[in-house]
Amino acid sequence: MKLLDGKTLGSTIEEQIKQEIRELNQNFIYPTLAVILVGNDAPSASYVKMKSKACERVGINSLIFGMPENTSEEFLLQKIEELNKDLKVHGILVQLPLPQHINTQKILETIDPQKDVDGFHPLNMGKLMVGLDGFIPATPLGVMQLLEAYHLSVRGKNCVVIGASNIVGKPLASLLLNAGATVSVCHILTKDVSLFTKEADFVFVAVGKIGLLTAEMIKEGAVIVDIGINRTNEGAIVGDVEFDFVAPKCSFITPVPGGVGPMTIATLLQNTLKSARNFAKDMK
Ligand code: GUN
Repeated sequence: MKLLDGKTLGSTIEEQIKQEIRELNQNFIYPTLAVILVGNDAPSASYVKMKSKACERVGINSLIFGMPENTSEEFLLQKIEELNKDLKVHGILVQLPLPQHINTQKILETIDPQKDVDGFHPLNMGKLMVGLDGFIPATPLGVMQLLEAYHLSVRGKNCVVIGASNIVGKPLASLLLNAGATVSVCHILTKDVSLFTKEADFVFVAVGKIGLLTAEMIKEGAVIVDIGINRTNEGAIVGDVEFDFVAPKCSFITPVPGGVGPMTIATLLQNTLKSARNFAKDMK
């Protein structure tokens, strides 16, 4: 069994980005990411902090807009419109989940698709589906880059994605399909997930449930990608896979932490750099 080391690959990508940003700076282009955080969700606040620190490491300006839980939808929409127009801002990210009284879809559709570094706007989602260039959500993009770095091709392979969220499961399924995989997506209504995973060459788990994938559910030699992030009662960060039992049975596996997480950060930075480059090109 080999570990898919997202921490090391993430650092390598960050170094490349840092270099490219230095070059852009010489042309007076300063990539800037605006991050909006509404409410007091503790994990969200910690993710935003991590994203902002990563921006700092590579030389991307990050502007954090913290707003109280009772922020109105109208106010949030106005802020996004303002950032859409701001020529200094290349990327806009609204941290999810949003409070219940705000229509998340409406918010995501208001972000200028050209600044949508999360890739959550329906235009970018649609482009991903048909294989056109656009912004691809950071986590699934990070997963694909991690597989690529280890020369693990999904072409012609059986891939199972567990979890069908708009943020991870659905875009990941599209990327795998575009890469030539046969893809099954399991979700909350799937009667017997193991029926699918037992036949899978690759299993991707993005549910957020400790111990969801067990050794009995997988084929010998499968590649396992754990996208879950959970906190145990003791405060440790663990994924969705029963790592100690699954690891000896598989060929490759992502650790948690240190697998997909750092890749998500690195690809968000890549998307922000890509956006800054696109805007610079348009100005020429
Ligand atoms: N909440 C959980 N994951 C994400 C993400 O990738 N982007 C945003 N904006 N919110 C999230």
